[in-house]
Amino acid sequence: MNLLAPQFDITRYRADFPVLRKKMNGKPVAFLDSGASAQKPQVVIDAMRAVMDTDYANIHRGLYQFSQVTTARFEAVRQKVADFIGAGSEREIIFTRNATEGVNLVAQSWGRTHLVPGDEIIISGMEHHANIVPWQLLRDQIGIVIKVIPVLDDGTLDFEAFGKLLNNKTRLVSLVQVSNALGTINPVADIIAATRSFNPDIKTLIDGSQAVVHGAVNVTALGCDFYVFTGHKLYGPTGVGVLYGRYDVLQSMPPYQGGGDMIEQVTFDKTTYKDAPGRFEAGTPAIVEVIGLGAAIDYVCAIGMPIIAAYEKKLLTYSLARLDEVPGLTLYGPKHDRAGIMSFTADWGHASDIAMVLDQCGVAVRSGHHCCQPLMARFGVDATVRASLGLYSNETDIDSLIDGLLKAKELLL
Ligand SMILES: Cc1ncc(COP(=O)(O)O)c(C=O)c1O
Repeated sequence: MNLLAPQFDITRYRADFPVLRKKMNGKPVAFLDSGASAQKPQVVIDAMRAVMDTDYANIHRGLYQFSQVTTARFEAVRQKVADFIGAGSEREIIFTRNATEGVNLVAQSWGRTHLVPGDEIIISGMEHHANIVPWQLLRDQIGIVIKVIPVLDDGTLDFEAFGKLLNNKTRLVSLVQVSNALGTINPVADIIAATRSFNPDIKTLIDGSQAVVHGAVNVTALGCDFYVFTGHKLYGPTGVGVLYGRYDVLQSMPPYQGGGDMIEQVTFDKTTYKDAPGRFEAGTPAIVEVIGLGAAIDYVCAIGMPIIAAYEKKLLTYSLARLDEVPGLTLYGPKHDRAGIMSFTADWGHASDIAMVLDQCGVAVRSGHHCCQPLMARFGVDATVRASLGLYSNETDIDSLIDGLLKAKELLL
């Protein structure tokens, strides 16, 4: 029985994920790497298969029934995503390959159009490489300046320093909402409001890759200009992500890539482009994957994001208390008000050795820099072990983690 949240039918939800019935190294799998990529419920697998089994065809072009049906299914997901993140219109939703492509699109399209040498953008010291490297590429191309909000010892952002970084050259603030390496939940609504009150022309981009998974998001209430996330962490397939952009801002941006499906008229002299979002979706999109993402959104919405968040919060409290029982661990990130991501090192073993022992115990965790090398350097470590929760995680998974850690300590000490 689920003692943490009796109203949350964890047994039923676990049964929705076929992979959880499998064993890993002969042990029941305790999958604690959902932060890297989540497992897929049967409904997502079925929805993707159904597209290919029934009326698969390329979209937006064919006048025959299969194409019309698949186009309608694909476009319905755009509205679903808009509703899911509280966007004003489905025209503000662009399908990308992943969150990384969303940030690159903004950097190359909006950045190259609206920024000039010497303009400043602000990111934070806890960004995933996906929200660092695209800006460095842009810096090398056009000479912008990247400023970084420092991370405090408790794994939160230094807001005093943020206030001092804002100035009349600032053009963009681009921040992660939930840190994939620390579990920190950044108060992005306050940061956006502070940015706007300093200068309403400064644009804001929020990397919600870990946030949409752990709670309800409303981009309109946040007031951001751009928001990115990735499908595979939200129980959907790989190969599809989302870029939300405020419509007037999207309309001020040129295409990111050129090709089929994004044009209005092509001659050898001149090409005209569709309005957003079409102009940002060159070539055949990830049709099957977008439909899979739609099924994933239906799945989590049927449970309810606030309900998932409340369950994960309770499981996180249980997990943190149990981690306390393991001697020699250092946990990174805030003690309270954090997401279900636990990053730690041990004074008795390296993160990768610990992860390998855990693997033998059937426990899947991530070890390494989590694509946050500057953050690792800030804390003076090259790697941490990261256990991250999904909606299917339960106390048994955490108990297996703790047993595995105690075993690793015995072996590695
Ligand atoms: C916070 C954050 N941003 C961006 C990404 C990049 O996601 P993707 O590789 O799917 O583009 C990740 C993935 O780990 C992430 O955790």
